[in-house]
Amino acid sequence: MRIKKARQAIENFSTNPSVSTTIYPMTLTTSLDAALTSDTSNNISTSDMSSFASSSSSALLKVSDLHTHFATDRGELRAVDGVSFSLDHGSTIGIVGESGSGKSVTVRSIMNILPRNVGLQAGEVIFEGENIQDLTGPEAKHFWGVKMSMIFQDPMTSLNPVVKVGRQITESLRYHLKMSRPEASARALELLELVGIPEARRRLSEYPHQLSGGMCQRITIAIALSCQPKLLIADEPTTALDVTVQKQILDLLDRLQIDQKMAMILITHDLGVVAGRADEIAVMYAGRIVEKAATTDLFASMRHPYTQALFESIPKIEHRSHTRLRAISGQPPDMTNLPTGCSFSPRCRYAQERCLTEKPPLEADPVNTNRSYACFYPVNTPAGEEALSVNIKHGKSAAGLDMSREGLEGVSLSGDGIGGGGLIDDGDGIGGGGLGEMADEDLEGMDG
Ligand SMILES: Nc1ncnc2c1ncn2[C@@H]1O[C@H](COP(=O)(O)OP(=O)(O)O)[C@@H](O)[C@H]1O
Ligand code: SF4
Ligand SMILES: [Mg+2]
Repeated sequence: MRIKKARQAIENFSTNPSVSTTIYPMTLTTSLDAALTSDTSNNISTSDMSSFASSSSSALLKVSDLHTHFATDRGELRAVDGVSFSLDHGSTIGIVGESGSGKSVTVRSIMNILPRNVGLQAGEVIFEGENIQDLTGPEAKHFWGVKMSMIFQDPMTSLNPVVKVGRQITESLRYHLKMSRPEASARALELLELVGIPEARRRLSEYPHQLSGGMCQRITIAIALSCQPKLLIADEPTTALDVTVQKQILDLLDRLQIDQKMAMILITHDLGVVAGRADEIAVMYAGRIVEKAATTDLFASMRHPYTQALFESIPKIEHRSHTRLRAISGQPPDMTNLPTGCSFSPRCRYAQERCLTEKPPLEADPVNTNRSYACFYPVNTPAGEEALSVNIKHGKSAAGLDMSREGLEGVSLSGDGIGGGGLIDDGDGIGGGGLGEMADEDLEGMDG
């Protein structure tokens, strides 16, 4: 039943021409279909699958209690505040959250490439059993690129504008792999063909400004893959590209990841992007992971109100064209002045008095211990439904959120709908009902 609902949730994803947010229903369905088929044919439960995704015994990467705080004029800013996760060989974790939630600083902390104003950096990053936080000098240089490499959001700023494309690729091959000039040139040509650059030989002698944004991103991917790293970190790799090219680049990363047997950390502000591409998803808010689960489990039934809000901001197939997206209420928090208690409380429909004074810890779900979330009144649980019902009755949450602006009119609290938190039982199993056209001001704070 749960799997059927997950499939239904997946099938209701769609691109919507009226919005710039991109999701890819075919890929999503295919990829999750494969997961769901293997789930039934092998009689493996979804929790077993999530255990596969999050098992740390054979982990390639294990990040424990990572903290990165900056000293700013306005006080200490906890950009990363106790992040932990692990990643197996060849698997993908999606890190999702609005702009400013700490995604980039998390991966920059892992790679140890942080700006100078770091006030505190703590935690442990173990890669293939080795603590890589202590690597310095040539040891560190050799590690980056060969074992782990990164693709950044804007390809134009990652490439050197005054150096020809060919040399930008061969440099890393010659430095890291000690290839001769002809060997490196031959490999550079192979790499450009691998990432689908037409007329590859000619492109090698061109400068970045002679290429389109999509081509440049393919070249940064070729550079990142040149030494066949075991882990690729892709930090919003398609945000600077147009919608059609976004899909091509994400599909390319999917294919290369399988071919090269790489693990991947895929960062995005768009839950739709990671839906069909990640084995596991970690949702970040205000420097913390607030929910982490296998992708199938998360889409079948999310627990954190912020994950639910992110889900609602994705276009659905049942929406008419030009339907406005549902934005998350309020603004992302001021990271130097977070609310006491739960950081999400000012924007949360479920918030109760307790949320204003106590910070919810990230804890394992009592039933599926491979999923965890940081919430006192989780979506899709009796406690969550009760909290929501009380707030609807009072017309506002304990933090003063105006419930009449939450689009919950006619809400039935009895369902266990997917991602709806029992919030909207509209018969299709997806918490999308009642989220129709919104006023302009509801789009405030919408990321990306
Ligand atoms: N060098 C810095 N000094 C002070 N604050 C920073 C610095 N770099 C990032 N931040 C802050 O850290 C928080 C997390 O940033 P970031 O990880 O880049 O967010 P995301 O990638 O999720 O959009 C933001 O509030 C950002 O303003
Ligand atoms: S219900 Fe409370 S603890 Fe949970 S996200 Fe909302 S404010 Fe935070
Ligand atoms: Mg970022």
